[in-house]
Amino acid sequence: MHARARSCAIRHNNRTLANCLHITGASQLLTLRGRGPRPGRALGNLGVIKNGALLLRDGKIAAVGARSQVEALPGAATAEKVDLGGRVLLPGFVDSHTHLVHAASRAEEYELKIAGASYEEIARNGGGILNSVKKLRAATSEALKQRAHRALKTFAAYGTTTIEAKSGYGLDIASELKILRLHKELAQEQPLDIVSTFLGAHVVPAEYRGTASGAERFIALLIEKLIPEVAREKLAEFCDVFCDRGAFTRDQAKRILEAGKRCGLAPRLHAEQLTRTGATQLAVQLGAASCDHLEQVNSRDIAALAKSRTVATLLPGCDFHLGLKRYAPARKLIDAGAIVALATDYNPGTSPTLSMPMILSLACSQLRMTPAEAIAAATINAAYALRRDNLIGSLGVGKFADLAVFDVADYREIPYYFGVNTCWMTIKRGVVVYAADQTTI
Ligand code: NIG
Ligand code: FE
Repeated sequence: MHARARSCAIRHNNRTLANCLHITGASQLLTLRGRGPRPGRALGNLGVIKNGALLLRDGKIAAVGARSQVEALPGAATAEKVDLGGRVLLPGFVDSHTHLVHAASRAEEYELKIAGASYEEIARNGGGILNSVKKLRAATSEALKQRAHRALKTFAAYGTTTIEAKSGYGLDIASELKILRLHKELAQEQPLDIVSTFLGAHVVPAEYRGTASGAERFIALLIEKLIPEVAREKLAEFCDVFCDRGAFTRDQAKRILEAGKRCGLAPRLHAEQLTRTGATQLAVQLGAASCDHLEQVNSRDIAALAKSRTVATLLPGCDFHLGLKRYAPARKLIDAGAIVALATDYNPGTSPTLSMPMILSLACSQLRMTPAEAIAAATINAAYALRRDNLIGSLGVGKFADLAVFDVADYREIPYYFGVNTCWMTIKRGVVVYAADQTTI
């Protein structure tokens, strides 16, 4: 239907930023303009400009508007021009929950799950997160880095321009620091932004199990050694805890997150995924940036989120991959007024996907979010969950030129074509970092 993606556009080479780019011919330009995140029903407002165009200068957006307006600007004529030929242009996706660095898949557990074993049963038998911990500790930094680089390229190929990345498969001092240092190196070696989160409290590692005081000794290690070291080396912005049956209790999570806060790490939480623990109430109390999963929330949790600025980040890829029927109550959260975001939760145990468009498809079909709501949840609200909504997640003058172009004429077709990658071009800070070889639909 459409011509090949232009290969003449300036590609990322870690040196040159496209000085001036004029992007025009967008059938729909989804600006997501407005102040801050979109709580409640405001979520569906994409700020669409028909037949839209952008002018980019030095990696930022210099102008945004209808084609005729932008073309009339003095800078437009001299800028390198990319005509989108009627495709849809939107902010690059912000994937606010990933476990980027891990050593290998857990395809062996996938088969066990299909045969009927539950996620928790597999974990109790030494599989699950501990399986990934064993694999990560045995892997070299170089091997972990190569795998993460491949993942980052794929994120970009699906329209994602910023990701959050959690540690949590190391669970000893050296291995956790190794993961967090890799986040930093990866951020320098490729174009996507990586926002680092310390998840030392993922589960209690094997060597601390088997005695009553083991969990407490591990928590002491986190609070007294790891968190201060992570803060000293500036290796993370956020501190996360997996608060659930088989992981950490609400009281333990509180102590760990408070220790993080004292060291300047903002809290976020894995909350109410497999069982309801009260983690959502804790997240709100602590002013957490987000609480994520939420399959098991009750009406009081929903009400608390709705009154707060803590983002409710939904991860439908987990329920899909695990074959679970109970998805998070997205409609109730939105209707109550919560700030809802979507993320992949890319990880080897519960959600091995790198595709935000697939998450959008699940959000529409399983969470009953509209395509517009799903897009806003994956851009401006996710940017807010990472405390970067002033820089990314919407297309306004002065914001970073982080863009995704989809090879469709109507934004609703992005989730509609599930499991098909219609991403046609991804631009990070004004530089083309992905261009499709061929059209998909
Ligand atoms: O977000 N729930 C905890 N952490 C991951 C799963 C990790 C794993 O199974 O490896 C999640 O679903
Ligand atoms: Fe997770």
